[in-house]
Amino acid sequence: KKGSYDHFMQKEIHEQPHSLTTTMRGRLKDGEVLLGGLKEHLKTIRRCRRVVFIGCGTSYNAALGARTFVEELTGIPVTMEVASDLLDRQGPIYREDTAVFVSQSGETADTLLALDYALENGALCVGITNTVGSTLSRKTHCGVHINAGCEIGVASTKAYTSQIVAMAMMALAIGSDQISTQARRNAIISGLTSLPSCVSEVLKLDAEMKELASSLIDSESLLVFGRGYNYATALEGALKVKEVALMHSEGMLAGEMKHGPLALVDENLPIIVIATRDACFSKQQSVIQQLLSRKGRLIVMCSKGDASAVCSIGSCRVIEVPGVADCLQPVINIIPLQLLAYHLTVLRGFDVDQPRNLAKSVTTQ
Ligand code: UD1
Ligand code: BG6
Ligand code: NA
Repeated sequence: KKGSYDHFMQKEIHEQPHSLTTTMRGRLKDGEVLLGGLKEHLKTIRRCRRVVFIGCGTSYNAALGARTFVEELTGIPVTMEVASDLLDRQGPIYREDTAVFVSQSGETADTLLALDYALENGALCVGITNTVGSTLSRKTHCGVHINAGCEIGVASTKAYTSQIVAMAMMALAIGSDQISTQARRNAIISGLTSLPSCVSEVLKLDAEMKELASSLIDSESLLVFGRGYNYATALEGALKVKEVALMHSEGMLAGEMKHGPLALVDENLPIIVIATRDACFSKQQSVIQQLLSRKGRLIVMCSKGDASAVCSIGSCRVIEVPGVADCLQPVINIIPLQLLAYHLTVLRGFDVDQPRNLAKSVTTQ
């Protein structure tokens, strides 16, 4: 079943041009987005006061990656909830809310308990899941199956990118009645169409990521700085490294760097900075300068052709990635980090598909 691959995680990373194609299949037609599972509910969603995204782990990170473009394309405020934290706080959920539950398996206990809670409070409950017939799919009022195909590796990879694409299509569908964002929507739809080929291109960084992994094999920690669309990429890249490579790693909001994390910077601690082209680019350039002036050991992810714009030759290591529409860039940017986590795990001699102490689906609280 792994075919020519050594591990499921590796297979699932390399399968992403295909899994993203199946996520979009039949849903983009003549410049329009058609989501059968949401069609009847779009009017209600457009009238809601707030969208609340709820999930755990990688699924939470995917929702965080979608937050910015959902706000942008729908004009509806979006708040984020880790399922267990919503339950711990018994946080406010109202009838006027659209609660969007994101879960690869559709069986995560915390997410399902949060769903029961949101149903009791009268919210419209929407599911984004990979599993047809799952409890999440059955109990939500409506939703979108991401159709990424079965994911076996405990560390979620292809489901993450398909979740983001499913939520991009959801945002496009909700916002489709707005004239002012028509041009922006068209650009995103054409970005979605070219996404699988961009993913194939970024997967060619495999050998380079293996080489980078070999230089990090003995590090104790790895920081990842992102912001805007790619804050989620920082959290998810760090989560991959900690869950499979068993190395301490933290994703951080670059805008918070001066408020604490800067104290950690020295010549030894490796720091990945995500600085691909978007509205935050110049802010990230200044973050890189500040880290370099403290002799930080930097690995900068930038758009193709931007190596000299992000750092002077020799001062840092650069990963150049292909560019897509800014809000879809997280789908591209996570892939080198998935590859890095994979190779780091293999080189460190750990179990890639069954990491210590973790389960694919956590069905108890
Ligand atoms: C559906 C069919 C698909 C078919 C297509 C043709 C299923 C599962 N899907 O896909 O095989 O090719 O029509 O038009 O039969 N739902 C939830 N919660 C969730 C996810 C989904 O309630 O978390 C609901 C949806 O609201 C919808 C149904 O499940 O009523 C199927 O959703 P989805 O598979 O996303 O719909 P289509 O893409 O239309
Ligand atoms: C577990 C998995 O902790 O559950 C993670 O090990 C996953 O990879 C998380 O992200 C949430 O799972 P799901 O199925 O709700 O997306
Ligand atoms: Na349902």
